[in-house]
Amino acid sequence: MVEMNSRKAAIIGCGFVGSASAFSLMESHLFSEIVLIDADKDRAEGEALDISHGLPFSKPMQIYAGTYQDISDAAVVIVTAGAGQKPGETRLDLVKKNVAIFKSIIPEVAKYNRSGILLIVANPVDILTYVAKQLSGYPSNRVFGSGTVLDTARLKYMLGEHLGVDSRSIHAFIIGEHGDSEIAAWSSANVSGVPLFKFCNMRGHFHEEETSRRIAEEVKNSAYEIIKRKKATYYGIAMSVKRICEAIVRDEKSILPVSSIQNSEKINGVALSMPAIVGKHGVEGQVPIELSDEERAALQRSADTLKAVLNDVLEEE
Ligand SMILES: NC(=O)c1ccc[n+]([C@@H]2O[C@H](COP(=O)([O-])OP(=O)(O)OC[C@H]3O[C@@H](n4cnc5c(N)ncnc54)[C@H](O)[C@@H]3O)[C@@H](O)[C@H]2O)c1
Repeated sequence: MVEMNSRKAAIIGCGFVGSASAFSLMESHLFSEIVLIDADKDRAEGEALDISHGLPFSKPMQIYAGTYQDISDAAVVIVTAGAGQKPGETRLDLVKKNVAIFKSIIPEVAKYNRSGILLIVANPVDILTYVAKQLSGYPSNRVFGSGTVLDTARLKYMLGEHLGVDSRSIHAFIIGEHGDSEIAAWSSANVSGVPLFKFCNMRGHFHEEETSRRIAEEVKNSAYEIIKRKKATYYGIAMSVKRICEAIVRDEKSILPVSSIQNSEKINGVALSMPAIVGKHGVEGQVPIELSDEERAALQRSADTLKAVLNDVLEEE
């Protein structure tokens, strides 16, 4: 068995998201080696060279374009390869396209790398996380998606701006699908222990119902708004990838809303985001936060939506 190098990562897919993630990981100093793989080898080589030229201003490390053989000892394998949605294309068409891409990637990863963590970023991330688990045969704790880590960051940022407080002092989660059926878990949201809506009143904001609805909608539509203006989103997700890798490499046991396969009585056989403990073994436990009846019902609907898409994909097998 190849010994894992906890300071080594691989990134598969070096488009906007993969290259921004590579850059943010280089700046983080978490890894001493990063392998870049892309179907377009020139692209991977170009990104590796470009990022390497910044190393004299950072810290020494190896970042290079490689092959699947090179990832055998990578502790974390980040998969961002996948097409984005084209105008006129349905979500299901995109799912089928990216599942086909995963069928060419994940078996190669599993062939060379037997005990690393698979971090899925390509969309639809919840469906692809489930598919990656099936294709890899890895245990569930070692296959998870970036899920709603980015959506949660967007929520914290917007609340921080609205309330005039540091977004890091806000504790709130977006849960469920990374997409249209996601849920803002308002009932457990707080600012350093003060229930969120009480904190709003303390800061002189009294239309919390209306404002929370507006902010949740803005969070949900963020990707559409950014894509409309600059064709892709990549810096926010790159920082999310860095944050997840930090929790893994430093074995932080941080609570992050990553997408993982659920096993509860009501929600199972599907991957979606719930707060989870993330450390060197990947997803080390779920954190069942308190939800209102309304939020619980919305979470069930989100799971049902994802399961319907998954069934369509699996039926085609
Ligand atoms: N989870 C999130 O929060 C989040 C956020 C932003 C984007 N995304 C998703 O990330 C994915 C990538 O987005 P992007 O903007 O970087 O797209 P992009 O088109 O810029 O990059 C995709 C890259 O994947 C490569 N690729 C395609 N098939 C491959 C294969 N079989 N093997 C290796 N490489 C392959 C392509 O050559 C390309 O370089 C999309 O699915 C997008 O929706 C997810």
